[in-house]
Parts: sequence; C-alpha cells; structure tokens
Amino acid sequence: MSVEIPVIDLKSVKKYYSRLNEKNEVSVLRGIDLSVYKGESIAVTGPSGSGKSTLLNIMGTLDKPTSGEVFLLEQELGTLTDDEISLLRNRKIGFIFQESHMLPQCTAIENVLLPTIPFPEKSGNDYEKKAQDLLDYVGLGDRIDHYPYELSGGELMRLAVVRALINDPVILLADEPTGSLDNES
Ligand SMILES: Nc1ncnc2c1ncn2[C@@H]1O[C@H](COP(=O)(O)OP(=O)(O)OP(=O)(O)O)[C@@H](O)[C@H]1O
Ligand SMILES: [Mg+2]
Repeated sequence: MSVEIPVIDLKSVKKYYSRLNEKNEVSVLRGIDLSVYKGESIAVTGPSGSGKSTLLNIMGTLDKPTSGEVFLLEQELGTLTDDEISLLRNRKIGFIFQESHMLPQCTAIENVLLPTIPFPEKSGNDYEKKAQDLLDYVGLGDRIDHYPYELSGGELMRLAVVRALINDPVILLADEPTGSLDNES
C-alpha cells in the first residue's frame, strides 16, 4: 500500500496581525491543520472576516504565517528562499483572487498571457492558442482584445479563471470565484 503525501499540508498554522497597541492584536488563524491530497476539491466556508482569504493567501505563498508550517508539494515554505517561492508560485499555483486584479493597461488575452512570460520554453504561439481556447471555453472568445474596464464583473472573474489555468497549475486556489457569476457559469 502506498502512502499518499498531501499536495498541501498545513501544520498548526497561526496568523496574528499585531497593532501598535498590543491589546489590539488580531488573532485570525489559531492553529490550522489541513491536508489536501491530489485530486481533492475543498471548500473553506465561514462568515465574512473569519479568515478565509488569509488562509488562502498563506496557502498560495502570498502571505506568511506567524507560526506553524506550510508544505506545498512536499516542500516546507520556511526552508525556501524568496526566489524559490516565486518559482513555485508561478509554476505550480493558479490563484483566482477575490478581486480580479487585472492589469488595466493590458487587454484580456495579454492579462491571460502574463504568467507565461517567465517560461519561454513553449513557443508564444502555443500559449496564444491555449489562451484563445480557454477564453472560448468560458465564453470570452469575442472579448480577447478588450481592456479590463470594458468587461463586466462576471467576465473579469471568468478571465481570472483562464489566467489561473494558463500554466497548468498543480494547485488551483480560488477566493470566492463564483460571487459574480450566474448559475450555469
Ligand atoms: N493587515 C491586517 N491587519 C489587521 N487585521 C487584518 C489585516 N488583514 C486582515 N485583517 C483581519 O483579519 C480578519 C480576516 O480577514 P480575511 O480577509 O481573511 O477574512 P475573509 O474570511 O476572507 O472575509 P470575507 O468573506 O469578507 O472576504 C478580518 O477580521 C480582518 O479585519
Ligand atoms: Mg475574503
């Protein structure tokens, strides 16, 4: 019997935000243990302000825990350099933010292609074809040359999904990605 190793493994992850006055320290995550295995889909639910985005940002290497360990693909983030973490994030993780975070000066397809810039091994044409196919798939095939300000909230969200998928991530993290979508989307 093979023992499966989690893709994401959190051990006693705590996050405090300290304020100038120590009494006002905000304790957001109070010791999270969570293992996510290959192929699993997990939803984290809770009221506004309960720490969902904080947890997701820590899993996505965008924020660091106050204490505890975060393993992504068997590597403990505390043992990696900033460059190694950036590479891991760019290669292995797709992140759909609560706000779409598109670059306003780039068109829809340019925003989708941004995460591919560090990876010249595939030719630009392959990425463009893939971006076009994914944009078609989410119903944005006729919006590729539009700028973010020309898109609706739900269209921006679908664009963010495509951008998160362009590098074939091993881990896909999505922060309330369905808020502005209709049921079918
Ligand atoms: N930089 C900060 N300094 C102090 N407190 C913070 C900071 N960032 C977030 N918080 C607090 O941490 C708590 C968790 O915030 P978080 O954004 O993770 O919540 P959430 O569950 O994603 O909420 P929502 O559903 O509204 O998106 C909130 O009470 C927030 O006020
Ligand atoms: Mg949130």
